[in-house]
Amino acid sequence: MRKIAVVSGKGGIGKTTLAINLGYILHNEFNFDTTIIDCNLTTPHLSINLGVYNKNKTLNDVLKGEAKLEEALVKHPAGIKILPASIELNDLEGVDIGKLSDILQNPTSNLILDSAPGIGREGMATISAADEILFITQPYTSAVMDIYRCKKVAEKLNKKILGIVVNFRKGFKHELSNTEIEKFTELPVIETIPYNIEIEKSVAAKLPLPLYNQKAKANKSFYSLASQISGFKIERRRHFLDKLLNIFKKIKLE
Ligand SMILES: Nc1ncnc2c1ncn2[C@@H]1O[C@H](COP(=O)(O)OP(=O)(O)OP(=O)(O)O)[C@@H](O)[C@H]1O
Ligand SMILES: [Mg+2]
Repeated sequence: MRKIAVVSGKGGIGKTTLAINLGYILHNEFNFDTTIIDCNLTTPHLSINLGVYNKNKTLNDVLKGEAKLEEALVKHPAGIKILPASIELNDLEGVDIGKLSDILQNPTSNLILDSAPGIGREGMATISAADEILFITQPYTSAVMDIYRCKKVAEKLNKKILGIVVNFRKGFKHELSNTEIEKFTELPVIETIPYNIEIEKSVAAKLPLPLYNQKAKANKSFYSLASQISGFKIERRRHFLDKLLNIFKKIKLE
């Protein structure tokens, strides 16, 4: 089972969005059993952005030793499995995020860890608990510099770095190019996600992008990344969709 952390130096860069869309495609479309975990205890957005919440138990209870991990899991109506952190401020009391590694020791599915930004306690605990790190940044100097710092931490902890995802690409001249980002960080850029207002709308609708709008421009990037990570060939999915379409066409003709 793989444990992949989605990490950034700066906040608001698209970690949760990436975790949700990657998790959805891997689990629902590529048959790659996946659970998304909200490791951002102080500002948890995973359950909010998906509109599902476990009223009984959360990651906070699991970290406190007051619940089993399975008890805190929730399923989105689309089938995505998530482990939410509590959205109640009081539930932060007595929680030690340092225990994250221990509770994720023997996962029964692949895990995507949605990190808090930076290398504070939560960020560090998330990087420590993961085996593989997927960095995400915007194409601006400050965000890229923060990635460099996170990279140094991940290397010190002997984590496998999958590469960088550049998000919010608008295509303006003042943006750093992927080559510049690679030069600065000494890491490969493995995917670029364009700025796409459909993403904002999908978050408001509490749905992964492919379910909200199959034709949205940014879908291509999420599918391509999921394919790179899982080895699942997108052609196989297209083949399946074509077959499905042909069946519908036949039914219509009959
Ligand atoms: N490529 C994109 N195009 C347009 N909007 C985007 C894109 N990626 C993310 N967003 C929007 O940006 C906002 C912030 O994204 P998100 O919550 O995923 O960031 P984050 O890195 O998880 O933030 P935090 O550090 O607070 O956890 C979201 O509301 C989402 O709608
Ligand atoms: Mg987030």
